Amino acid sequence: MVGVKHKYSIWGGRFKNQTDAVMENLNASIFFDHKLAKFDVAGSKVHARMLAKQGILDDEEATSIQQGLDTILTEIETGKFEPRVELEDIHMNIEARLAELIGPIAGKLHTARSRNDQVATDFRLWIRNQIDITVGLIHELEVALVHKSNENIDTIMPGFTHLQCAQPITFAHHLLAYVAMLDRDRCRFLDARKRLNESPLGSAALAGTSFQIDPTYSARELSFDKAMLNSLDGVSSRDFALEFLSASAICATHLSRLSEEIVLWTTSQFDFIKLSDKFTTGSSIMPQKRNPDAAELIRAKTGRINGAFVALLTVMKGLPLAYSKDLQEDKEPVFDTAETIQNVLPAMTGMINDLEPNIEMMKQSSEFGFSTATDLADFLVRKYNLPFREAHQIVGKLVLLAEQKSCNLKGLSLEDLQGVYKKLEVDALDTLSVEGSVNSRQSIGGTSSTSVMNQITYWKEHLKCE
Ligand code: ARG
Repeated sequence: MVGVKHKYSIWGGRFKNQTDAVMENLNASIFFDHKLAKFDVAGSKVHARMLAKQGILDDEEATSIQQGLDTILTEIETGKFEPRVELEDIHMNIEARLAELIGPIAGKLHTARSRNDQVATDFRLWIRNQIDITVGLIHELEVALVHKSNENIDTIMPGFTHLQCAQPITFAHHLLAYVAMLDRDRCRFLDARKRLNESPLGSAALAGTSFQIDPTYSARELSFDKAMLNSLDGVSSRDFALEFLSASAICATHLSRLSEEIVLWTTSQFDFIKLSDKFTTGSSIMPQKRNPDAAELIRAKTGRINGAFVALLTVMKGLPLAYSKDLQEDKEPVFDTAETIQNVLPAMTGMINDLEPNIEMMKQSSEFGFSTATDLADFLVRKYNLPFREAHQIVGKLVLLAEQKSCNLKGLSLEDLQGVYKKLEVDALDTLSVEGSVNSRQSIGGTSSTSVMNQITYWKEHLKCE
C-alpha cells in the first residue's frame, strides 16, 4: 500500500485542511476492500455503458472510460495496481487511477451514482461469486460422504443418545445424516443467492437520481434478476451479507459436529476409524501420537465464523437509514468467513475420502450397553400383544438382572427369563443380534440396509453423482 499524499481529490471542494493521518487510517477500507476490485470495474463498465445508452455520456466518453477500466483490471490482475491509503477505498482508488489514465473524462463516470450504491453492488457481486464457490465445495463433500456410505452399508456401529450406546446402526446411516444436513446448507446458500440477486445500482446516494437512468439494463448486464425497488433499501440493507454469514455459521456448525465425532472416533478408546497421514499430524515429543488436527481446526474455526455473524448483526442493529459509515465494517467478517469456510470444506472432504473404518471394533462396540434391549421389548409387544410400556418394564428388569450377574442379555438362562415374565421362552434371545436389530429397522429413514440403500439412491440422483 502506498501512503504518499496524492493529488487526486474526491471531495476537496468543501475542505480547507488535510485529513489527520489517524483519521485517514481509521477511515480507510482499502486494506481489505481491494478484494472488490474486479467487481468494481465490472459495475463501473456497465454503469458507463448505461449512461451512454441513455445519452448521458457520449459514446466516445463511454468507450474511453471502459478502455481505461480494462487497463486498470489488467493492472490489478498483474499486481501492478498500487492503491493509496489516502484514497480511502477501492472505489476512489480506481476512479483516481482512471483519471490518471484518461484525464478529466474519468469524473463523468460518477454521474448518477454514489459510492453507496457502488459498494452495495460490488459487495453483492462478490458474495454471489463466493456463494457459487461454496455451494460447489459443499456438493463435493456430500459426494464424498455418499461414496463412503456406499462402502459401509453393512458396517455396524453403535448409535448413541446422550453419547451412551443406544441402538446399533450402520456407519453408512450415520454419514448419510450429514449428507442431509449439508444438502440443506447448500440449499440455504442457493436460497440466499436468490434474494441477494437484485441490483442496487441506480439507488445513488440514497434517494435515487434526477438523471434518466436505466437500472434494469444495469441489473441485467450484471446478471442480477432485477433492479431494487427502493433506493434506501438498496444502499443500506446488508441482510444479503447476514444470510451468507448465517448459512456459513450453520454449515460450519454441522462440520464442527462431524469433526467432534471424528476426534472421538480416532481416540484409542473408541478406535472406530483411522485417518490418513494426509490429514493427521504427529507430536514433537510423543512419538506414538497421531492427532486429528484437521478435525480440531474445523471445530475451532466454527467459533470464528459464528463470531463473524454476530459481529455483523451487531453492526447492523440500530443503524438508521440510509448509509452510515458503520456499513464499511460489513466486509471483513464476510471476507474472513468466505475464506474460512472454503478452507474447511475441502479439508473435511479429504478426511472423509481417506478415512478407514475399523469394522471389527465398531461392531464389537455396538454390542455394548444392552444395545438391542429395545428389540427385545418390540418382540414382546408383537409376540404377547403387550403394551409397549409393560414390555419396557420387563426388559428393564432383565437388564438389571444381567447387570447383577455381570453378563449380557444372551447370558441369561430360561429360568432367569421366566422369573421376570413367566411366558418368556428362549426364542426371545434370538432378537438380540445387532445385525437382526439393524435390518429390522426398515422404516423410511431407518438404518436397515434396504432403507440406507434407498437413501443412497436418492442422493446419487439428487447430487447427480455415481
Ligand atoms: N468504503 C465505503 C464502504 O465500504 C464506501 C462507501 C462510502 N460512502 C460514504 N458515504 N462515505 O462502505
